[in-house]
Amino acid sequence: MSGMGRATAEAPANIAFIKYWGTRDPEATLPYNPSISMTLSECVSRCTIERREGAVGEDEVLFRPRGGDLAPAPAGFAAGVRHHLAALSKWAGAPGPFRVTTANNFPTGAGIASSASGFAALALAFTGLVGRQVSPRELSVLARRSGSGSAARSALGGYVEWPAGDDEGEGYAVELAAAERWELHDLVAVVDAGRKGVSSRGGHEAAPSSPYFQARLELLPERLEIVREAIAARSLADLGPVVEEEAIDLHLVAMSSRPPIFYWQPATLAVLAAVRELRSDGISVWATIDAGPNVHLICEPPSVEPVAARIGALPEVQELIRDRVGAGPRLVEEHVS
Ligand code: PMV
Repeated sequence: MSGMGRATAEAPANIAFIKYWGTRDPEATLPYNPSISMTLSECVSRCTIERREGAVGEDEVLFRPRGGDLAPAPAGFAAGVRHHLAALSKWAGAPGPFRVTTANNFPTGAGIASSASGFAALALAFTGLVGRQVSPRELSVLARRSGSGSAARSALGGYVEWPAGDDEGEGYAVELAAAERWELHDLVAVVDAGRKGVSSRGGHEAAPSSPYFQARLELLPERLEIVREAIAARSLADLGPVVEEEAIDLHLVAMSSRPPIFYWQPATLAVLAAVRELRSDGISVWATIDAGPNVHLICEPPSVEPVAARIGALPEVQELIRDRVGAGPRLVEEHVS
């Protein structure tokens, strides 16, 4: 993969149980609070990087959305990739310009962590290009330097915690448990596959202006402990309620920020109502929502089919993506073309 002037990596999205919401140090992408997530296996970004030999000027950034054609990347993503390339190039002492080609197999910018997977894939592909082997910890730091903090978590597989970190060098995620320890599923009820109106970056900036921001931070030490213990004990009964409270609180903070940010749509509430109905029918399924309208349904293997049948039949649900906990990013031979 290295030495051929081209390297490719595949990295999964992740879904946070305890959310990262609010950036303490935007320059270094350090959060106000620790977050905990599950790395997925099906929703992935694949990224190929090569040096534009003999070229001068800008990095070229191409993107292929799910079901679409390869084209120049949308401006926001292209700017993020160039920013990330500057950090990676400095780290490796390897000058550009580069050509980066990213493909996603799931809807982009709709609260399914496409920036986490995209930037974790870019970081790993870059290490392949320059022929440097890195530990998961180093990869996590490199992914975080993209500016998408959740990418620090997509650098690892399984169940992952990203501590708040006291300084730049401490900003890496660690594994809490391997994927094989607990087979949790994430069924993503897609109610709107379009790009969200406000980026998570905008949300992070606005978060401290919410009168509830501080109140949520005060609840977190206890929530974090419950989630760590629930993962260790493989207890969905303990994990689920906290995951759902966290999702509601993230959006409560977003909706009460100045200016307010609404990611939810009427269809989001319809899915949440159906989740409560499923639970009253004895099916253990719990909802969480990132910075978008789509709802992630967390459950164990016996509940997957009943949940898919009920949620997939809702008129508000355009598509149900079936995902589950996964092993994390890897270098691959097949380039994006
Ligand atoms: O990493 P960012 O800047 O894309 O922010 C991610 C924010 C959430 O997805 C809403 C929460 C999280 O921890 O993944």
